Amino acid sequence: MILTVTLNAALDITHRVARLRPHASNRVSDVSQRAGGKGVNVARVLRALGERTAVTGLAGGPTGAAVRADLAAASIADHLVPIDGESRRTVAVVDDRDTTILLEPGPPVTSAEWARFTRRYRELLGGARAVVLSGSLPPGVPADAYGVLVALARAAGVPALLDADGEALLAALAEGPDVVKPNIHELAAVTGGEDPAVGAAALTAAGARAVVVSLGPDGLLAHTPDGVWRARPPAPVAGNPTGAGDAAVAALALGLTAGHAWPERLVEAVALSAAAVAAPLAGDFDPAVRRALLGTVTVNSVPPSTI
Ligand SMILES: Nc1ncnc2c1ncn2[C@@H]1O[C@H](COP(=O)(O)OP(=O)(O)OP(=O)(O)O)[C@@H](O)[C@H]1O
Ligand SMILES: [Mg+2]
Repeated sequence: MILTVTLNAALDITHRVARLRPHASNRVSDVSQRAGGKGVNVARVLRALGERTAVTGLAGGPTGAAVRADLAAASIADHLVPIDGESRRTVAVVDDRDTTILLEPGPPVTSAEWARFTRRYRELLGGARAVVLSGSLPPGVPADAYGVLVALARAAGVPALLDADGEALLAALAEGPDVVKPNIHELAAVTGGEDPAVGAAALTAAGARAVVVSLGPDGLLAHTPDGVWRARPPAPVAGNPTGAGDAAVAALALGLTAGHAWPERLVEAVALSAAAVAAPLAGDFDPAVRRALLGTVTVNSVPPSTI
C-alpha cells in the first residue's frame, strides 16, 4: 500500500457562478463538495490506477466528518486521526473565465494530538511501500513536522516523497526525503533563484535525494542520483491545472515503488499530470488523455555542464 499523509485535510467546496463579481452578491448555480487536501488527491489518483492506498492525517469536527464520509464513499481507506478542532474548508468559485480560491488555515492542533498522530503514522508505515507527505501544516503542528515524518519513514525502510513549500519543505531536507516535488514558484521562493536546474541542485545539496520541479505546461525537470532530465508534454493541455502536481506526485510514487528507471517515471508523471489538467476536479484524471500522451512525452538528459 502507498500511504498518503494530509495533515491539513480539507473539505473542498466548489461554487459555480455565471460571472464572478467581487464586492457584490453572486448567485450560485451549482455547489459541490468533496474530501480534499493534496494527499487525498494523490490517493484518489493512485486508487484510480488500481494501486492500494491509505490516507492518514488529521481531521476534526463536522467538516472532518464530512471529509471522512466522502473518503468512505470513494472507497479510500481512511486512517485520519481525530482532533478536537474543526477541519478547514477550501472554497473555489468557478465562473466562465477563471477560478477564485479561498483557503482556510486549518484547525489548531495540540501537542497531544500531534503525538497521537505520529504513533498512528509509525503503525501505518509497517504496511507501506512508500509514503507521500503533501501540503500545508495546520497551526500547532511543529515547523519541522515533515522532517520528523521523513526520518520515521526512512528509519522504517519506507521511501518518502514530499510535496511541501516554504519552511515546511526546508526543515525536512536534512532528513533525506527520497523525492521532493516543488513547483517552479515554490522552488524560487525557497532558493531565491529563477533557474530551476540551479534551484534543484541546491535542494539536492541540502539533503533531498531527488528533486523533481514541476514547470506547469512545460513539464518537469528532475535532478536525481542517476542524472538530470527534462520531460515535456507534446503541447499544453487546456483545463484545470489545480491538482496536476498531485497527479505528478502519484506517478512518481508508483514509479519509485515499481523500481522504474527515472526517464520512465517522468514519462508517466508528465502524461498523468497533463491528463489531470484535462479533468475538471483535482484528484481526477482523464484516462484517454493519459494513454494518448504516454507515447508522445519527450525526455532529454541535461548535461551537467549546462547546470
Ligand atoms: N496546461 C498543462 N498542459 C499539460 N501539462 C500540464 C499543464 N499544466 C500542468 N501540467 C503538468 O502538471 C505538472 C504539475 O503542474 P504544476 O507545475 O502546475 O504543479 P503544481 O503547481 O504543484 O500543482 P498543484 O499543487 O495544484 O497540484 C507539470 O509538471 C506538467 O507536467
Ligand atoms: Mg503543488
